[in-house]
Amino acid sequence: MQLGTGASVVRGARSATQLARSRPPTCAQCLRTASVRARIPQSRVFFHSGRPNPSAWAAAVSVAGNIVSNAVTRATKGDLPTIDPLRIVAKEMKFLTGNIRKLLGSGHPSLDRAAKYYTQAEGKHVRPLIVLLMSRATSLCPKAPQRQQATAQVSAAIDTSISPPSILSDFNPSAGTESEPVLADAGILPSQRRLAEITELIHTASLLHDDVIDHSVSRRGSPSANLEFGNKMAVLAGDFLLGRASVALARLRHAEVIELLATVIANLVEGEFMQLKNTARDETNPQWSEDALTYYLQKTYLKTASLISKSCRAAALLGGADAQTVDAAYSYGRNLGLAFQLVDDLLDYTRSEKELGKPAGADLELGLATAPLLFAWKTMPELGALVGRKFANDGDVARARDLVMQSDGIQQTRTLAEDYAEKAIASLSLFPDSEAKDGLVEMAVKTLQRKK
Ligand code: FPP
Ligand code: MG
Repeated sequence: MQLGTGASVVRGARSATQLARSRPPTCAQCLRTASVRARIPQSRVFFHSGRPNPSAWAAAVSVAGNIVSNAVTRATKGDLPTIDPLRIVAKEMKFLTGNIRKLLGSGHPSLDRAAKYYTQAEGKHVRPLIVLLMSRATSLCPKAPQRQQATAQVSAAIDTSISPPSILSDFNPSAGTESEPVLADAGILPSQRRLAEITELIHTASLLHDDVIDHSVSRRGSPSANLEFGNKMAVLAGDFLLGRASVALARLRHAEVIELLATVIANLVEGEFMQLKNTARDETNPQWSEDALTYYLQKTYLKTASLISKSCRAAALLGGADAQTVDAAYSYGRNLGLAFQLVDDLLDYTRSEKELGKPAGADLELGLATAPLLFAWKTMPELGALVGRKFANDGDVARARDLVMQSDGIQQTRTLAEDYAEKAIASLSLFPDSEAKDGLVEMAVKTLQRKK
């Protein structure tokens, strides 16, 4: 797995931040980026040490440069206004839900309804938004000559079937899949727009399955699909989404992108399987060790960061970007994805059901030991037995929650999320300045600021 061990992920995050503080500035670009970066809360509590890897070092040097640049900018021009990432790709985002619904048409009315159910309530559409911003930001980066011709061919054919249409229609005359025409845009290709839709399809499929596994009763402020249609239909609807996502993916006619997104689907299942246990060995009375955090971070990569990182990489590939840009896009997505899930896990402790639009405090109820608890456990050995029995005894959930709230687990989780967000921003250092790049930076800031 590209992530390496969870411990190395933790080390990388810490090293980047520390280096960012200690190294002299060598880069004067990205002033706007630096200005936004300065809004990330600074609250460092480090818990682990290790040597930086070269890419983390390079990234950190760039962040260091930005910090100083930021001071200069603020001194001379004052703070720049906050950017709205949605506005930058508003034209493409406007058609997202409509296009997804077209991809999901089925001749069977019940399946049609169940498959489109989670497209009714306005989701956050974080993944497509990131893909579109990445597509536009990388359009200004250097190209790999061998990828350019393929790029043009792919974008012309995303609605054209590869097999004869009569074979594909068979006995299931589903709705057409042609997407809304979007005005020609130099920054974002039709294939990248389709990729954004595919990421939302895969994500939504995983939510349909996840809500069955978690016995959820609500999602996006409405009854969950499993409650509305029952478990069987919810699972089948998720499978249908994956089928349609696979067709759309094949029509991108880009083997590397297909490989990446198919791997994401496998990763999501691997992550969910890892989550069925709290620790690698699944002991009844585990003692705290760094392995628990390693296991959690690997699970978090697979469950959340894989989709974001691999779709960012795929966006850069579809745009014909060179190898360095493709790697940077992946690194941004991986770090942002890890930050995103860490914040999700801490909000589960700190926000109410009303604020989240889904049940709060659900993780402990589901037996899950996430980052806030893992950090608390280090200084509160009593938590080991509770982790081992997945908080199943009467009073376990309340006791675990109390201990976490007495500890600095929430703060340490936030600190780690900040480190990953900073690394995500540092990954963009080689991109030319643009609104889309600013939007990606702002996404990292918003990830830390979000309340639900
Ligand atoms: C939400 O987690 C769930 C995921 C991010 C991934 C779930 C993956 C699967 C169920 C594997 C099957 C995958 C596919 C593609 C069919 P959460 O429960 O922490 O978040 P929540 O509070 O929003 O439910
Ligand atoms: Mg869930």
